[in-house]
Amino acid sequence: MSLWKAFMARKDLVKAFRAASIYKTIGSDEKKIYPKIHSVKVNDLLTEFVFTIPIGIDPKLLIKNYYVFQQVFGERIKLDGEVKKFVLNVYPTSKEKTLNYNSVEIRKIIKEFKLGIICGKERAGEYVAFDLLKQPHILIAGETGSGKSTQLRSILTTMILNNKPSKLQLYLGDCKKSEFHIFRKVEHVQCVLSNGKEIAKMLRHIKKELDERSDLTETFEVSHVDDLPAEHKRPYIVVCIDEFVMLRKDETVMDILTEIVAIGRTLGVFAILSMQRPNAQVLDTTIRANLTVSMGFKLRDKIESRIVNTPDAESIDVSGRFIMNSDKLYDLQAPYLELDEAKKLLNPFCISKDAKEVNEKPPVSPQLTEKDVFNDVD
Ligand SMILES: Nc1ncnc2c1ncn2[C@@H]1O[C@H](COP(=O)(O)OP(=O)(O)O)[C@@H](O)[C@H]1O
Ligand SMILES: [Mg+2]
Repeated sequence: MSLWKAFMARKDLVKAFRAASIYKTIGSDEKKIYPKIHSVKVNDLLTEFVFTIPIGIDPKLLIKNYYVFQQVFGERIKLDGEVKKFVLNVYPTSKEKTLNYNSVEIRKIIKEFKLGIICGKERAGEYVAFDLLKQPHILIAGETGSGKSTQLRSILTTMILNNKPSKLQLYLGDCKKSEFHIFRKVEHVQCVLSNGKEIAKMLRHIKKELDERSDLTETFEVSHVDDLPAEHKRPYIVVCIDEFVMLRKDETVMDILTEIVAIGRTLGVFAILSMQRPNAQVLDTTIRANLTVSMGFKLRDKIESRIVNTPDAESIDVSGRFIMNSDKLYDLQAPYLELDEAKKLLNPFCISKDAKEVNEKPPVSPQLTEKDVFNDVD
């Protein structure tokens, strides 16, 4: 299959050379000598050609005719080389239509997981999903408008639709104050905060929870909170902060986030963080090493793609498309869940939060209300 693809790709490249008149004519019969194609590699993420041009051909011809290569291969191409040897990368263009969020299909995909995260679909049409218990902590990066918040919305909605509130608690931080209000009344959701100070308090509460869970696992000599005796079972906690860079100056926040991603895995505490402009200072090595999954939506340049570990994310040309780096690299289309549709799906899970405080039986783990978050912790 890929041999066939490589063969067809090679033919296209020759077509481009011909259309751009990149060849040398020799002899009385005007024999055309085209550039020599040394290799053609085709995979899901890109097609790479390596070729050399005949001696005597002006390399500027390639630059001048760049548009011809784009006409043949689409706009997402990259040409490297200066004198004789050139490498042409062709990235698949995003002709795909939007992938609408389908809760029934997605439920089937994630049901094998303890805490399923839906990512998107590959070009071949296969869904990609994973278990947050196996690959804890996610980084979502991309320029404004690239689809980060939408991806968070579909990940969170999927988690809510498929896990009981006794099993999963969500702590949401929304530094831009624009996205997470739809989750406010959902039973799983402990708080939706946008103010930096409040988020810091919330994280201090999580820190206490981490310490308690560490003590419990030590007391009962188990390696994972899931193995605690029934009466001490704790729900999974997911801390999700959209645009968390806004909190970078707060040391407490950064320290606790670092701790969550470093030790949260076996304690059932996970982080999902999004950021617009990844930079190496904010994503210091400890945090970066522990964010086991990164999703690179459209990024500004190669440097950012490198920080996020999602090569070529700078060449993405459409919202909702991203490169994911987890066990390997994936090129994915994110499901599109619009705000109104999300509200509809979440409606059955909404409760009056006041009623919840009064009526609820003592929860397995102390459940926080927003009031607690503000008042309880120091
Ligand atoms: N998965 C997707 N499929 C199709 N379009 C999308 C998708 N995600 C986002 N978009 C489009 O991009 C716009 C911006 O998305 P958003 O998630 O708000 O970006 P960000 O949070 O990165 O700024 C959306 O309003 C929508 O029009
Ligand atoms: Mg956003």
